[in-house]
Amino acid sequence: MKFKKMALTGIVSMMATFSISFAQPEAISPEDWALYQEGINPGEVFAEEVGGELFNKPMGPKGKSCASCHSPDDDNFINQIGKYPKYQKDCNKVVSLQQRIQMCQKKYQGVKPFPLKSEQNTALTTYLKYIASGTKINVDTSSNPVVKEYYEYGKKVFRTKRGKRFLSCQVCHEFAVGRRLRMQWLKPLGKGEISGVEGTSAAAHWPGYRMTKSKVFTIEQRFQQCMKNAGMKKLPLGSKEMVALELYVTSLSNGATIEAPGLVR
Ligand code: HEC
Ligand code: HEC
Repeated sequence: MKFKKMALTGIVSMMATFSISFAQPEAISPEDWALYQEGINPGEVFAEEVGGELFNKPMGPKGKSCASCHSPDDDNFINQIGKYPKYQKDCNKVVSLQQRIQMCQKKYQGVKPFPLKSEQNTALTTYLKYIASGTKINVDTSSNPVVKEYYEYGKKVFRTKRGKRFLSCQVCHEFAVGRRLRMQWLKPLGKGEISGVEGTSAAAHWPGYRMTKSKVFTIEQRFQQCMKNAGMKKLPLGSKEMVALELYVTSLSNGATIEAPGLVR
């Protein structure tokens, strides 16, 4: 087990932010509190123990595990992770990493894929991003007409105002950057700066462990949480709109180093 220890100062400042912003300390479980105090990110425990175990578990009629065909030490494989969402020839679509896992389950393991909202799919996704930590986000947005269409569509979804408050992702994550909303700073999601505020390179640290919810979520689930908070109807996980949005948001972090799972509020 090689859980990365976080610098103690990091935890202290994170916990300080946490206690200032949230009135209810019970939002954090006692087990997680104990882990933070030892400098352990519970998301990494989840990646290794739940995701890693599933990766190595033989399944289906031929008893194949993911590890029968992919090695976490294979740079060729690891370097693909930051390229998702990625165009797939056989279905002529752009698919998320979550969906690529399902494709392998069906095609190569011969099992019924774990649903996108399941803990198992999230665990495998988290494990893959975890072992790809240190490599770069590098999604393709223009090499063929299908990819281009997804990218443009994702940008449109990001900018389209909807819901009862008539908001878009762009309003909060571009136009209102630097302002505060319910004690939280609005920040850009990409690598660059907007209005003098540094972006968070969100795609590089999702799936992330949300301390306020004591659980790991994928980036599409994080999008859904923003949609809910902003009064927008939630787009379904894995829908064309959602994958296009994920491609667009991920492209904003192109070049950023993957450090996942992140430890986030
Ligand atoms: C029997 C072999 C086999 C098994 C088992 C298998 N895969 Fe795959 N996987 C492949 C092959 C072959 C490809 C690439 C070819 C393709 O596109 O179908 C691939 C592609 C991938 C990719 C995309 C890599 C890229 O180049 O974009 C990921 C990620 C992946 N597999 C993850 C998994 C996970 C997670 C599991 C277990 C749930 C799994 N695979 C099970 C054979 C397998
Ligand atoms: C009403 C304002 C608002 C809207 C609209 C909104 N968000 Fe957010 N978003 C936030 C706030 C506030 C945070 C939390 C910032 C923090 O954790 O410090 C956040 C966080 C995020 C994060 C996590 C950032 C990180 O670095 O971990 C992602 C990803 C995200 N939003 C994506 C979206 C997407 C995609 C949409 C459009 C569907 C959207 N948001 C719409 C306010 C908004």
